[in-house]
Amino acid sequence: MPSPAISVSHLRKRYGPVVAVDDVSLEVLEGEIFGLVGPNGAGKTTTMECVQGLRKHDGGKISVLGLDPRRDAARLRQLIGVQHQEAQLQKRIKVWEAVDLWSALYVKVVDTDALLDRLGLGSKRNAWFMTLSGGQKQRLFIALALIHEPRMVFLDELTTGLDPQARRAIWTLVTDIREGGATVFLTTHLMEEAERLCDRIAIIEHGRVIEMGTPAELVRRHCPSMCVVFTSDGDGVAGQLTELAGVLAVESDGNTHTLRGEGDGFVTDVIGFLSSAGIQVRGFRTEMPTLEDVFLKLTGHGIRD
Ligand SMILES: Nc1ncnc2c1ncn2[C@@H]1O[C@H](COP(=O)(O)OP(=O)(O)OP(=O)(O)O)[C@@H](O)[C@H]1O
Ligand SMILES: [Mg+2]
Repeated sequence: MPSPAISVSHLRKRYGPVVAVDDVSLEVLEGEIFGLVGPNGAGKTTTMECVQGLRKHDGGKISVLGLDPRRDAARLRQLIGVQHQEAQLQKRIKVWEAVDLWSALYVKVVDTDALLDRLGLGSKRNAWFMTLSGGQKQRLFIALALIHEPRMVFLDELTTGLDPQARRAIWTLVTDIREGGATVFLTTHLMEEAERLCDRIAIIEHGRVIEMGTPAELVRRHCPSMCVVFTSDGDGVAGQLTELAGVLAVESDGNTHTLRGEGDGFVTDVIGFLSSAGIQVRGFRTEMPTLEDVFLKLTGHGIRD
């Protein structure tokens, strides 16, 4: 079992009367990609900033790579890389100038030309920050977070506002960071991102962790049922479907039938049944539950602040 890179217990943080983090306990294991997901205002950024040592927490304990993020701030800064939500730089700073500036902050620095090339920014070395696209800016911030080969990388909403191509390129980058041996702690609103990228996630709501586990575990635990939708020829099919093992509900609209069911063998059983009954199938699809279904089930459908 890998040891925890981050250990947070009963974290609490308020801004005046606002309780941003009420009671957060979690462990991020060495070498994993751990995602903190939750609605707007749930307390993700605040939790992350307390863990990084950027904000003073009001209660609870935090340990990062065996260090206290407030007391050992200077040592920790050399070991962690941070990409902030909505980060900005001066409009006319050039990419190479930002890289030089960041390099000066660390004892050990990687080959920055190779890093920019790897992030597809090689041709942008001389470009002003303000001339970069959203995706290029985001990749620059990731480059700046990786400049000292950190053991632990924090990414706060790393793909918000990016197109699908840029998002996928950044997902590959994040898995590369993990392959390189670092631990990744990220936040995201995108359940597809969490599902594809994270080894484990914690769902946070009103400053409290309400669920934790691998994406597949959470789906199995909270949304175990799935649907098979098919269109058939002929009448009288609907009546036979309720007999099938594992079927929870059947809805028929003309010749289109929706079967909701549970269990690993459910879809195979439906296919076997249709085949052995000699039913002519014109269309067939499955609707599998996703992490987004779990998220909406646990945190509701209302819009947040
Ligand atoms: N500097 C601040 N001063 C006062 N209140 C703050 C401050 N920063 C955050 N808050 C409040 O604390 C709560 C948690 O905010 P936080 O930014 O941690 O949420 P988040 O989960 O990161 O949200 P988002 O998904 O929108 O980024 C919110 O109610 C927010 O309004
Ligand atoms: Mg945030």
